[in-house]
Amino acid sequence: MIPKNVKLKSREISVPGDKSLSHRSVLFAALSKGRSRVTGFLEAEDPLNTMAAFAKLGLKVSKVRPGEYEFESPGKDALVSPNAELDFGNAGTGIRLSAGLICGLKKVNAVLTGDDSLKKRPMGRIIQPLTAMGASIVGLGEKETAPLKIEGKKLNGFRYESPIASAQIKSCLMLAAIASEADLEYSETILSRDHTENMFRFLGNRIEQITPLRFKIGPPYVLNGGEFKVPGDISSAAFFLVLGVLAKEGNLIVKNIGLNPARIGILTALRLMGAQIDVLNERVECGEPVGDLKTYPSTLKKANIPESLIPSIIDEIPVLSIAGLFAEGGFEIRHAEELRAKESDRIHTMVSNFRALGIEVEEYPDGYALDGTSRRSAEVWAGLSSGKSVPIRSFMDHRIAMSFLILRALSGFSLDIDETSWIETSFPGFETLLGSCLHE
Ligand code: S3P
Repeated sequence: MIPKNVKLKSREISVPGDKSLSHRSVLFAALSKGRSRVTGFLEAEDPLNTMAAFAKLGLKVSKVRPGEYEFESPGKDALVSPNAELDFGNAGTGIRLSAGLICGLKKVNAVLTGDDSLKKRPMGRIIQPLTAMGASIVGLGEKETAPLKIEGKKLNGFRYESPIASAQIKSCLMLAAIASEADLEYSETILSRDHTENMFRFLGNRIEQITPLRFKIGPPYVLNGGEFKVPGDISSAAFFLVLGVLAKEGNLIVKNIGLNPARIGILTALRLMGAQIDVLNERVECGEPVGDLKTYPSTLKKANIPESLIPSIIDEIPVLSIAGLFAEGGFEIRHAEELRAKESDRIHTMVSNFRALGIEVEEYPDGYALDGTSRRSAEVWAGLSSGKSVPIRSFMDHRIAMSFLILRALSGFSLDIDETSWIETSFPGFETLLGSCLHE
């Protein structure tokens, strides 16, 4: 395990708005007839691409001040076909949720595309159920990948038992049903983030909860716009939680963070590893729990991360694995094959970067394990501490770049990260904020 040596300035920080909620605020504003407003919107490439896409379909967008936008939609039935491809950049959430919504718009034809990373990501997971609802959607890339060619139409009521605990699949089908005034009964195996359900209810709709993991929605849907308040993103806060608990001294308070129960797995996982993180000032805003998170320097040890926790830590596993390098007994993550379907194949990218550091890692189809206790690992840390430069590859993946920047800050190792511009997709200002927490 890596010895701790970083001292933090004790301070209160804020991280940018929640990405999942920012995308959804645009999508529900586009579906609604009339005005909506959002504050705390994440002004990063991913949600701004979603906003630009729906502007091409007829959503009027005006910026009031940083993070605050007013939307005016003619209503879902008056949205129009865009006159160019819709480019979602790096964003799986942007393209998958928008694809569902557009499939249900009777008069809209569109082609949805993205960057080289997005064009490699699996789209069959939405194409198959959408097609079963009667949608016309084709993956023009190899093996059902983007670009996605869609001809919007009236869809049929549908019942789907999702084999994957994925909020992107769930939200895609919900938005398709809502756009098309169709019924949907949906079930999943483990609860994935339920922001779409919360925002849908917040607008005045009802969800029939059949069991904790099965629900039903049906028309008529209430879509008159709303005022959305987006809290800070716990997935962005996670980098600072790991920094805070692994510091030798100093406390960080990360203010105003969304604490949806299906997103707070990082708190549970870090606490299982021995971290002390307090939740302060808890409240509910726009149907979502929100609070501040305070970190304390803690001693971490290896913990069993249960399968039931995986959907709620799926985006945080890279930085949790960095915390695992400092844990007595090492780190192991299993049941996480979904990591292979993210902005990069995060099992491969983490394992290959750990190996570049000289760390022994066992790779599995659904995860990886590293043993931080061997004598060899002590030699590796000593070698790295002597200033040897190690090349780290970010693989077009913001969270890989940020995770290794956290490792560099915590360890002082000389990590040469090939490209950090991907961070702009979710967390503009990350490196400046990180620098401001560290003592000179
Ligand atoms: C998201 C859902 C997750 C997550 C992604 C955002 C969302 O994907 O990884 O970053 O906003 O719905 P899956 O639900 O496909 O796992």
